Amino acid sequence: MGKGFYISKPLGFVLFGLGVGAVLTIFALSVVYSQEKRKNEVNARDGTRMVTTAAPHSTSAPSNEPWDKYRLPDTLLPEYYNVTLWPRLVPDEQGMYIFTGKSGVALTCVKETNLIIIHSNELNFTLTSEMHHAKLTGLGGTSAPVILKTWFQIQTQFMVILLKEKLQVGKSYWLYMEFHGELSDDLGGFYRSQYTENGVKKVVATTQMQPTAARNAFPCFDEPSMKAVFHLTLLHSAGTVALANGMELGTENVTIDDQEVLQTRFEPTEKMSTYLLAFVISEFTNLRSPPEANVLIRIWGRREAIESGQGDYALSVTFPILKYLENYYNTTYPLSKSDQVALPDFAAGAMENWGLVTYREQSLFYDPKVSSNEDKEWVVTVITHELAHMWFGNLVTMRWWNDLWLNEGFASYVSYLGADYAEPTWNIKDLMVLQQVQRAFGVDALVSSHPLSSREDEVITPDQIDQLFDTITYSKGAAVLRMLSEFLTESAFAKGLHNYLHEYAYSNTVYTDLWKKLQEVNSSIQLPASINEIMNRWILQMGFPVVTIDTRTGSISQQHFLIQPDAVVDKPSDYNYEWFVPVTWMKSGSNMGQHWLLTKTASYEPMKTDTDWLLANLNVAGYYRVNYDPQNWERLLTQLTNLNMIIHRAQIINITLALRTTKYLYEEKEYIPWESAIRNLEYFFLMFDRTEVYGPLQTYLQRKVKPLFDHFKVITSNWTRKPPRYMDQYNQINAVSMACKTGVKGCSELTRMWYRQWMKNPDSNPIPPNLKITVYCNAIAAGGVEEWDFGWQMFKNSTIAAEAEKLLYGLSCTKEPWLLNRYLEFTIEPNLVRKQDVTFAIVYISGNVIGQPLVWDFVRANWEHITKDYDDGSFFFGRLIQGITKKFSTEFDLQQLQRFKEDIAASSFSFGTQAIEQAIEQTKANIKWVSENKVKLCAFLDFQKN
Ligand SMILES: *[C@@H]1O[C@H](CO)[C@@H](O)[C@H](O)[C@H]1NC(C)=O
Ligand SMILES: *[C@@H]1O[C@H](CO)[C@@H](O)[C@H](O)[C@H]1NC(C)=O
Ligand SMILES: *[C@@H]1O[C@H](CO)[C@@H](O)[C@H](O)[C@H]1NC(C)=O
Ligand SMILES: *[C@@H]1O[C@H](CO)[C@@H](O)[C@H](O)[C@H]1NC(C)=O
Ligand SMILES: *[C@@H]1O[C@H](CO)[C@@H](O)[C@H](O)[C@H]1NC(C)=O
Ligand SMILES: [Zn+2]
Repeated sequence: MGKGFYISKPLGFVLFGLGVGAVLTIFALSVVYSQEKRKNEVNARDGTRMVTTAAPHSTSAPSNEPWDKYRLPDTLLPEYYNVTLWPRLVPDEQGMYIFTGKSGVALTCVKETNLIIIHSNELNFTLTSEMHHAKLTGLGGTSAPVILKTWFQIQTQFMVILLKEKLQVGKSYWLYMEFHGELSDDLGGFYRSQYTENGVKKVVATTQMQPTAARNAFPCFDEPSMKAVFHLTLLHSAGTVALANGMELGTENVTIDDQEVLQTRFEPTEKMSTYLLAFVISEFTNLRSPPEANVLIRIWGRREAIESGQGDYALSVTFPILKYLENYYNTTYPLSKSDQVALPDFAAGAMENWGLVTYREQSLFYDPKVSSNEDKEWVVTVITHELAHMWFGNLVTMRWWNDLWLNEGFASYVSYLGADYAEPTWNIKDLMVLQQVQRAFGVDALVSSHPLSSREDEVITPDQIDQLFDTITYSKGAAVLRMLSEFLTESAFAKGLHNYLHEYAYSNTVYTDLWKKLQEVNSSIQLPASINEIMNRWILQMGFPVVTIDTRTGSISQQHFLIQPDAVVDKPSDYNYEWFVPVTWMKSGSNMGQHWLLTKTASYEPMKTDTDWLLANLNVAGYYRVNYDPQNWERLLTQLTNLNMIIHRAQIINITLALRTTKYLYEEKEYIPWESAIRNLEYFFLMFDRTEVYGPLQTYLQRKVKPLFDHFKVITSNWTRKPPRYMDQYNQINAVSMACKTGVKGCSELTRMWYRQWMKNPDSNPIPPNLKITVYCNAIAAGGVEEWDFGWQMFKNSTIAAEAEKLLYGLSCTKEPWLLNRYLEFTIEPNLVRKQDVTFAIVYISGNVIGQPLVWDFVRANWEHITKDYDDGSFFFGRLIQGITKKFSTEFDLQQLQRFKEDIAASSFSFGTQAIEQAIEQTKANIKWVSENKVKLCAFLDFQKN
């Protein structure tokens, strides 16, 4: 998954109900992630001044020297590394946490060169040979050239070694270095995480290498295709355990520099990419799989969490999921162990390091007494996502980051298959439509979207690589691969995968290698073109089609779907924004078929009908939207409550029709249609919650949701037990949150009663775990400082990550401006809110209609401070900007945004400009939409009153 961008649903589910629409697409678990500090730095030894103030993507390399290019030259290949690292878990005299290291790499020369260029970032080197920062020797009897000079290119993050003579092709050399670096708290590279246990502060040393931070831990050829074997040794103090990708070979006492330390050596890794390396040194304890399992599975975490059973669920599902995936890929898991480690501070949701997967605590830990269903579902899907990478990504790796979408889209897709296997009663596969496909539609309908696949030379700098970890890469990637698997059939898809993994094991590929292996599978399925020709249209051009079916004539056509239909698309496409679309269809519930739409328009007789209803894109298996002639829409609308595949009902609710389709919601009890309706209505709320339409809209929806609320009151025996069906457990959340939001009688009383009971007895929380987010939010919104302070206290005391996150959100719901402002101040105090949670907190507050303007002022006022402390911008600030501008829909908002853009362009902290560009486009679309639809909405609501 990477530092990834992973939308957690836990909060995704509630947002709307609580007037926090803006959170929806924001809860990406990738927050503060720092990987390069842009400072003016002076290389003391060479006196070369490296100016690196500007963000690399806005600065072209000053010259054409190999060290000014961001990509490694193709002259050398690493074979293996011997690395020893020693992180200090107590600060030195200057108060700095550091690590020291020694590393050697065996490299083979494949093209004559007198330069060694190797990645290194923020490491300080010791002189190891005659005043040089490195020592070079020949291997296998070769003699090595003399080093003339070594220096550091700060901007391109290289150490450069100039040799007196050339290295010889075919010969191998050993390059040895000693260095030290800071074990900082920036959540990237080799970093530290902290927590308190029984009043004692504990420090953990851990890593996040993806995409380009292995070079911050030791000098290495830090590109995914530079695979090598790693022999790792870790030094650590008594009382700590050291983990790495390979299994521990043994731990012994050694004395180094008069200090007694433990030395743990690890079995050498398989041939692998640097971004998948990981090491963790901690006082963590573990749970392990039963001895009969042929792969050792361990779940690691804080002692308190493991001892209270928070890792039990992960342990129970990890091995079955691993077995499921072995079977799915028809390929044995290549390592002897699989560790899962929960870290108190972690930027992404989780990271698929080979053999040592790291997680945010809430992605691995689950406490049945305290956590909700979504928390549990999140755990099982994240584990599957990461384990899916063990083969797809780790065993076979993309050649370069431009194919990241294949890696992430694939793991996101497969995570639903594995989770479904682990929890077969949940119907989790149905959720893919809501969680991936519809989410991708949202972003991909903008002109500022981008194609899934980029050219290799468009993604060069660490910033450009970072920016790839977005919704398109994850969710559109998943949606498009799901479509491919559906039209090929799942068994042909899996067979092709197996052949692909088999052929390219331990090496690197480009996406066409997968198409090739899928094409070679003999299957009975007739395709209208090669897989390459079909798929290129989906991955090389941005956006997706809306397929319009006219049942009166049987004509069918496609058009690039845009939120602003008249927006100017300035990115040319070789395919002219036309797709090869697999149109599946069903007529009046029985007659079914599939038709490939290969041109802009076509005529297809079976689509013609005057009496039947026709539904296309069954199960939303295709990555496209569907529109029909008005008559068919009418026929479908009358069928809404009868269509028994609930997922269909979700599909035909489109934004324009959302209002009309909401009319039937009063008799709807199913989760997916409600959730889908709510997500569509969310946009109405975002646009109108500050306007006079808001009141009538609330009243209207109140009537729709009241029956649902009452229904749940009955089936839960007056809120005393869980609904028996899993999807109902989800829908209960919608019922309560929507009821409270629209003021259904009894709702606010219920939530406040629960919260008050909890305040009376903080040690025993009476709130049903699934409803906690809703209850916290509503009770804190209805209450004052006392409720808020209690929530804050509970947040600070919480030892369960999932619980803390819910409170973090609930606290953003208060209606008191001063509390919101104080909360904002708290968020940028690292002692109060973990860095990993800061964007979430800020974006939550901006989802509150009262908090929104406060956040906007706060972010502008603190822009420099935030950009400095939270460092590396693209990803973090992209999410932040998108979150806080989501409600923008007036000319005034637009002007402010434009001024902000100018201001930061003029400052030296010009991060997030791309995100501001997108926000401006979205704001313009919103203004237009509001001007066109407000009157219609008023008329509709007016009419419904009677
Ligand atoms: C690297 O480490 C391995 C395993 O400890 C050892 O066998 C090998 O000799 C080392 N290589 C060099 C060049 O030191
Ligand atoms: C590395 O050197 C720089 C410049 O002398 C210094 O500011 C920095 O603190 C050093 N880092 C470590 C981890 O010692
Ligand atoms: C290291 O030494 C300590 C005491 O000096 C001893 O208790 C411990 O068992 C030793 N550990 C190993 C791995 O030999
Ligand atoms: C699994 O792989 C083996 C060896 O490559 C092959 O012979 C077998 O047919 C595959 N099984 C399935 C179900 O595809
Ligand atoms: C939704 O349906 C309306 C009414 O038929 C149509 O005008 C609109 O284009 C559709 N929107 C989408 C996103 O398909
Ligand atoms: Zn992933």
